[in-house]
This record gives sequence, structure tokens and C-alpha cells, in this order.
Amino acid sequence: MQLTVDNLIMPFFVVEGKNIKSPIKNFPGVFHLSIDKMLKDIEEIKKLGIPAVLLFGVTNKKDGIGSYAWDKNGVVQNAVKKIKQKYSDIVVITDVCLCGYKSDGHCGIFKEGKIDLSSTLKYLSKIALSHAEAGCDFVAPSAMMDGQVKSIRNILNKNGFDNVGIFAYSSKFASNFYGPFREALDSSPKFGNRKSYQLDYANTSVALRKIKQDIDDGADIVMVKPALCYLDIIKEAKQKFNVPIAAYNVSGEYSMIKFSASRGIISEKESVLEILTAIKRAGADLIITYHAKDVARWLKK
Ligand code: PBG
Repeated sequence: MQLTVDNLIMPFFVVEGKNIKSPIKNFPGVFHLSIDKMLKDIEEIKKLGIPAVLLFGVTNKKDGIGSYAWDKNGVVQNAVKKIKQKYSDIVVITDVCLCGYKSDGHCGIFKEGKIDLSSTLKYLSKIALSHAEAGCDFVAPSAMMDGQVKSIRNILNKNGFDNVGIFAYSSKFASNFYGPFREALDSSPKFGNRKSYQLDYANTSVALRKIKQDIDDGADIVMVKPALCYLDIIKEAKQKFNVPIAAYNVSGEYSMIKFSASRGIISEKESVLEILTAIKRAGADLIITYHAKDVARWLKK
């Protein structure tokens, strides 16, 4: 068993504007990039042999329903078009969620203190459709809303996008390891937390049920997130299900390593290779990781 470059997916945080490459708090080596800068990075990714990217839009155009998320000329939609024009063989996956676009930072619409599923699913589907229209290969619904895969599959098929796949964040835990990511999107919930829709980390059976449901609803690839505390879930999913399994080596997991390495506590290269190999050994076919470029370089040597 060996980690290879084609296992890797590199995430990007894309902002409007030009010539922007700005650092993110507690997220060393990861930047907000304008589309021109992102394209430069993707050229490098292509050279390194990394097959796929995952895009997150970053914006301050937030409102109560997250409407900028499905703007035809939104930052993600434009980024997808540009990547596909220039690098048609790079697999483009787009995150589909509301948290980065809503003023309250939540992944769904709240009504009287509870998630309102019907409006939430309607908006998530609009986002997915706008990404498909821009030309993405996969949409990645990450809101953990019941029925999101089904609603998205329906709207895509209705509009002739049967060929756009669903990369489902099926088993996503209410984790303590998302901190730097929420800095990147400015998406920390303004009230409460995400425990009413993300999974309880003490519970295995719900996680496996969610994965099964998403596969039944039409997911092409299913994801376990985060990765490190959940190798057992990855392993069980791999044994039980017959679709590719992805694992998300999340922002907090990444920054722990970066900060420890910068203080000389561990070797960055050796520990990252150990961690990613363990994630693959557990059963992940694909690994989303902010270390992707470094790993690809190390694997080349
Ligand atoms: C939520 C979402 C999260 C991440 C990606 N999409 C988690 C959250 O804010 O609850 C985290 C990714 C990371 O930490 O790297 N839509």
C-alpha cells in the first residue's frame, strides 16, 4: 500500500479581485487567492500530477439566505469557468453550502430556532445547479442536511446535468478541528453551534447510515470528515460500500502539524506522509488535504 499523487485533492479559497494572495489566520501556507493567482497555482498542481481541486468561495456579500452563492457570476462560478477554459483535464469539485454566504454562518436556514429543510434544500439545489452550469465535474454538498443529495441529483438531472457527479460530505462530524477553515470563510456560527446537523463523534452507526442514505440517493463518491479521529469510520465505510471513499484531512488537522513542525517538535514531511498513508491504509481512495502540493513534491523525489 502506497500513497500516490492521484489520491490527492487540493482545496482552494477563492476571492473576487485581482492579484490577491493573502494569508489566513492560523492557517499557515494557505491563502485567499483571486482567480488569476489561483490559476497560477493550478498550473503548478497540474505539473505535479494532482488530478483534482475543491473550490470554496469567500465573500463578504452575505445575507439572510446566502443568495450570492448561486450568482451566475459569483466567484466560484467564475473560477470554475476559468479553470475549465485553461485546464480542461483538471477535475473541478465545488463545495455546496450556505455557511460562507449567510450572515449567521449556519449551513441551513433557521426558522423559529429550527432548520427549515424545505427552503434549505431549495437554496442548496440552486447553488449546485449554478456550479454545474459553470462547468464543474462534481458538486460537493457539505451542509449535512437530510435529503440534500436527492434534491441536488434531481435538479441536476432535470436540467440535463446527469454527467455532473455528486461528491457527498456524507459523514461529517461536529468536530473541533474546523477552526482555521472558519477563519478562511468567516463562517463561524453567530449563534449556537452545528450540532443539530453535523454528527455526534461518539456515534458510529449514524455515520454509516448517513453514508448508505447518500449512496441510495445518488452520491457517486462519499466522504468522511475529518479524517484523523475517524479512521475507523473510513475503514468500515470502505468495507461496507462499493463507491469510492474520500477523507477530508481538515484545516485543524493541517494547522496542528504546521505549527508543531515550525517549532521543531516533529518533522513536517515525515509526519504528513505518515498521516496521509494512514488515511489511505484505513480505506480512503481520495484525500482532500491542504498538504497536497507539498506531498506531491515529496512523492516525486
Ligand atoms: C461546512 C464546512 C466545514 C468545512 C468545510 N465545509 C466545516 C464547518 O465549518 O462546520 C471544514 C473544512 C476544514 O476544516 O478544512 N460547510
